Amino acid sequence: MLSQPIAPRPVCYVSQVIEKATCAMGCMNPMITFLPLNTSWSTERGPLTVHWREFVPPMISKCCQREVFANTPVAGLRVNFRLHGLLFCIVVWLVTAGCEPNAAARAAKPASMQHPTGAARPSNAQLADPILEARVDLLLRRMTLEEKIGQLVQYNDTGDVSPEPPTRGKQGVIAALNPESGNHVNAMQLAATGRLGSMLNTIGAERTNTYQHLAVDRSRLHIPLLFGADVIHGFRTIYPVPLGLAASFDPELVTELSHMAAEEATTAGIRWFYSPMVDISRDPRWGRTVEGAGEDAYLGAAMARAYIRGYQGDSLSKPGNVAASVKHFAAYGAAEAGREYNTTDMSEIRLRQDYLPPYRAAVEAGAATVMSAFNSLNGVPSSANPFLLTSILRGEWGFNGFVVSDYTAVMELMNHGIALDPATATRKAITAGVDVDMMSHFYDTQLPGLIKSGQLPMAVVDEAVRRVLRVKFATGLFEHPYAEGVEVTAAVAAHRPLVRQAAEESFVLLQNDKLADGAPLLPLSPARKRVALIGPLADDKADMIGAWAGAGNEGDIVTLRQALAQRAQQLGTTLLYSQGTEIDGSTQAGFAEALEVANAADVVILALGESSAMSGEAGSRAYLDLPGNQQQLLEAVVASGKPVVLLIFSGRPLVLDWAAKHVPAIMEVWFPGTEAGNAIANVLYGDVSPSGKLPMSFPRAVGQEPLYYNQFPTGRPPTGIDLSKPPGDGTRFFSRYMDVPNSALFPFGYGLSYSSFSYKDVELSKSSIPLAQALSGQSLPLLEATAIVTNTGDRTATEVVQCYVRNLGASIEQPVRSLEGFRRVTLAPGESKPVSFPLGFNELSFFNLENKPTIEATHYTVWIGGSSSASQEATFEVVSPSAIAGLH
Ligand code: BGC
Repeated sequence: MLSQPIAPRPVCYVSQVIEKATCAMGCMNPMITFLPLNTSWSTERGPLTVHWREFVPPMISKCCQREVFANTPVAGLRVNFRLHGLLFCIVVWLVTAGCEPNAAARAAKPASMQHPTGAARPSNAQLADPILEARVDLLLRRMTLEEKIGQLVQYNDTGDVSPEPPTRGKQGVIAALNPESGNHVNAMQLAATGRLGSMLNTIGAERTNTYQHLAVDRSRLHIPLLFGADVIHGFRTIYPVPLGLAASFDPELVTELSHMAAEEATTAGIRWFYSPMVDISRDPRWGRTVEGAGEDAYLGAAMARAYIRGYQGDSLSKPGNVAASVKHFAAYGAAEAGREYNTTDMSEIRLRQDYLPPYRAAVEAGAATVMSAFNSLNGVPSSANPFLLTSILRGEWGFNGFVVSDYTAVMELMNHGIALDPATATRKAITAGVDVDMMSHFYDTQLPGLIKSGQLPMAVVDEAVRRVLRVKFATGLFEHPYAEGVEVTAAVAAHRPLVRQAAEESFVLLQNDKLADGAPLLPLSPARKRVALIGPLADDKADMIGAWAGAGNEGDIVTLRQALAQRAQQLGTTLLYSQGTEIDGSTQAGFAEALEVANAADVVILALGESSAMSGEAGSRAYLDLPGNQQQLLEAVVASGKPVVLLIFSGRPLVLDWAAKHVPAIMEVWFPGTEAGNAIANVLYGDVSPSGKLPMSFPRAVGQEPLYYNQFPTGRPPTGIDLSKPPGDGTRFFSRYMDVPNSALFPFGYGLSYSSFSYKDVELSKSSIPLAQALSGQSLPLLEATAIVTNTGDRTATEVVQCYVRNLGASIEQPVRSLEGFRRVTLAPGESKPVSFPLGFNELSFFNLENKPTIEATHYTVWIGGSSSASQEATFEVVSPSAIAGLH
């Protein structure tokens, strides 16, 4: 469903007052009109203090006393115009300059809002505010080419100690910060001279404030820097990796968590997150699978919206909110063979149907910025791709924020072979729609020459600068450039319950077999007095916080061993521990001790899996087994005959085929974050029933990849054939493998609970819908699907109820089923509830051969259940007039 753009905030800027003053020019005392009359003279971050330098052209500032203009506060009626000269200057300026740009700004829509088709409305209303545009106009007029280019340049903290030009061996350090491009810059010097627009991953209020003071106090136009950072799943208090969070199917929780992260990070001066990563990934060999919401576009879009709501709230300028950067645009997750940075190539229909929806959802939710991806798409690198960055993003979706390249992606255009020199790479990137160059060192070195030689129109640079300035104004950065509040430097105690809840919701119980006594192994009974905890991840702090740990401190992490030791104390049980092996080890030296511990216990908890560095960027793997010799350890421990609970820590689906056959209880716990140990202990002992569902299919063998539930049908489906047996007479010539079944070991949407649920009576509010109605009123529900869900177990538990749809008979083939709705429902034992899903154009449409979303007169099947294998179904059809008249 399309979400509404953010409403403009009721903030009165100086330019409004300027306008009032201009209109009151006949009045002998224009100053009166400068005085704010009401409380709207504040931003949501606090009182508005406007630098008059922002508005007064250099000509005027020369004729007036410099210190009067410096930081004159407007708020609180404290403006003191004692100097007649100043008043005179302002009047002259208003007459000569003030009126025209404001009027012009009001008359003309920003360029980003104009599109030849006239189709899209601005994605973020705050950025389309004409008052903000007037400020941008005024500032842009005063900028030199060098200052404009500065806004398009981004570096990380170069480790400088001074902004002064370096004198070798004395003050200042020239840091070689980017070995790929060999650039040597002093970011402090750039900041102090207005040649830097934003910085990445500069952590700590002291450091961001230092840079910011240089930009605000020393640069000619005092334009503040925007500090961005990879805050992906928490700043100091870390919650589960995004793939784990997606398993919660709980967008409201994601919004709460991401807002919490934003509040923590703004205390360190960070006002821009390189998140959410919304790349759909259907191949777990790709390590960045961990950063997204998995394989499904519907779930991905829901999560994308949830992050944007959490980061940006209803106003970019509110304290504690940050601007989001949706990444990596586009289709980075479809890298061939799951190899990092590799090519993607796909039909436009697939792109639009399966990969673009989460980016689009984030843009429509108001995302202020987008990051262009490393990969090429159908032969055109994303960071020089006008089809993606201009036609779709701005033209179709009305995106009116700015685009930042991924790290050195502009430079990498040369490696892609579409630019033979830096100038061409720069020209291609900026004309395609990349506004800010992250770390390539190309925009600052190449744009001046391109402009001077006429190879690039000035208007292209101006538009990119406008886009950046809009975001800077909208975030309130000019008024509040520095880190805010008391800096958060460690995990926040008050945030621990929320991240613990998130971890608990993210765990997916994959298997929970009954033992000889007829009861499932989990939840653990306190009657199992001696508990063995074995494995390299059992007492590991660093890996608990995942691939992008923000600024999380290891010291804040609760390990599983710590939590279980505390639990043992409470229950009067004994915890035995052995590491057993390394995560990626080959020696079996620790096996003997591990077996000794196992043999002495009533139950074994095995904590196995990947290190956090085995997923994330540049974390592709060709094998999806347990790394090192952990499989051997697992087999040895299982051979002890003790009941085993296997906990899998990983940033991706692993191949757990052997474990599924031999281990009674298996739970996927991803990388759970700061409260890892406590959350796992709570679920193991049944304080909380697991409710997570898989956001990605778990394969039986790596050769099945890419494996995803919403595949297209084939002409030879192996219906009714036992695929666990090798092909023989009559079972060979089907779409199948000879050595492994087609299906996932654990499919998308799957996950067990300590209770159980039944589904019945799937009903639809209509059995047929006229095609004309289906094609009109695109956001209205066309019908409703309902099922009765019952908790058939003996404890209160939460189930993620899922709704899947198949479209049969369309002009082009459609997936065998697609997720089109989900809801978390908590039920007491024996309780039943009807759970409904509205189905409208968004849920029922598909992209046709013209790449347009449409509905045809076809048949639909709807399933409601607890996974993508749901079997309770109902059908309806969309009928054309000819069918209604019986002429079909
Ligand atoms: C990653 C991005 C990240 C950026 C800045 C790149 O290498 O691909 O996801 O935001 O670095 O750290």
